[in-house]
Amino acid sequence: MALYNIKVNGSQHQVDVDPDTPLLWVLRDTLDLVGTKFGCGVAQCGACTVHMDGNAVRACSMPIAVVGDKEITTIEGLSKDGDHPVQKAWLDHDVPQCGYCQAGQIMSAASLLAQNSNPSDAEIRRAMNGNICRCGTYTRINRAIKSAAKEM
Ligand code: FES
Ligand code: FES
Repeated sequence: MALYNIKVNGSQHQVDVDPDTPLLWVLRDTLDLVGTKFGCGVAQCGACTVHMDGNAVRACSMPIAVVGDKEITTIEGLSKDGDHPVQKAWLDHDVPQCGYCQAGQIMSAASLLAQNSNPSDAEIRRAMNGNICRCGTYTRINRAIKSAAKEM
């Protein structure tokens, strides 16, 4: 075990875990931030997507030892009242079906729009490519991202 100081959703946390512990388990098990989901565990499904210094990363494959002083944002910290443009568009377009993949989808979409406020269909496809939805909500996701882009 080792002590790590990490910044999550604007707050500093000290955690005592093994160096190879994935960030996902620190978020879920140590910090009780269970909005970030476990899907494949091998960086293939996107369910565990969080932001690291604003970039979408897979928390299941990110050892805590490499986080350092980078800022982590989870779905719980994306906005204060769930009113980020992407979250509002998700509601407007009724995107989720079972909901399991959706925190990861929203975090990928929010990161994309922070870096490119007017993405083309191809750019959306590329940015969202690593987020799998078993319920097949892709059409609504695409529509919601375009609508959120207008609010960014
Ligand atoms: S759980 Fe991390 S990508 Fe699937
Ligand atoms: S909404 Fe069910 S997996 Fe995406």
